[in-house]
Amino acid sequence: MLARLERALAALPQWLHDPDLWYSMDVNYHPPRVERLYRKFEDGRIFLHCIYPCGRDEALIHPHPWPSAMLVLSGRYRTIVGAGAQRKRPVMVMESMVSATPEADYRYTMDNPAGWHSVIPEGGPVYSIMVAGPRWSRWIPEETLAIAGRLTTLTPNRVSELLETVAGLYAQHQRANA
Ligand SMILES: [Fe+2]
Repeated sequence: MLARLERALAALPQWLHDPDLWYSMDVNYHPPRVERLYRKFEDGRIFLHCIYPCGRDEALIHPHPWPSAMLVLSGRYRTIVGAGAQRKRPVMVMESMVSATPEADYRYTMDNPAGWHSVIPEGGPVYSIMVAGPRWSRWIPEETLAIAGRLTTLTPNRVSELLETVAGLYAQHQRANA
């Protein structure tokens, strides 16, 4: 998945200045609120995320429906991780704090279908880029699937702002990691 992320990052600059190339979604049915832009990439998708702070115990603990890899561009967050292939939320076994900057080139993958996690930004939003591959057959909570189809889009102004912010952070990342 890291190779897929690398390919997506190489293509990303050509997509960051045209809002018409992106779908948007305001993922606000459960904390943390996530403003999401996404588009097709290879046989999966690329997502740009702005994730807002929330309380440690209110953050959604969730599995992913597909393998994914992330570059966290900026922000400080707590993350809690567990593993379980069943429907029940697993015991969460690891908790850590991450402080990401564009210079740090902080990347990680979730490429095991049994993985669950939560992300709890602190002090301000976290900006990240995620790529996902084809869907796994693993079980996903019904509420996630049902609600995803009813979420609203972001305003055109907000889409432009997000693209501008990500473009600025990604340019910083590129300069620092050239
Ligand atoms: Fe996630």
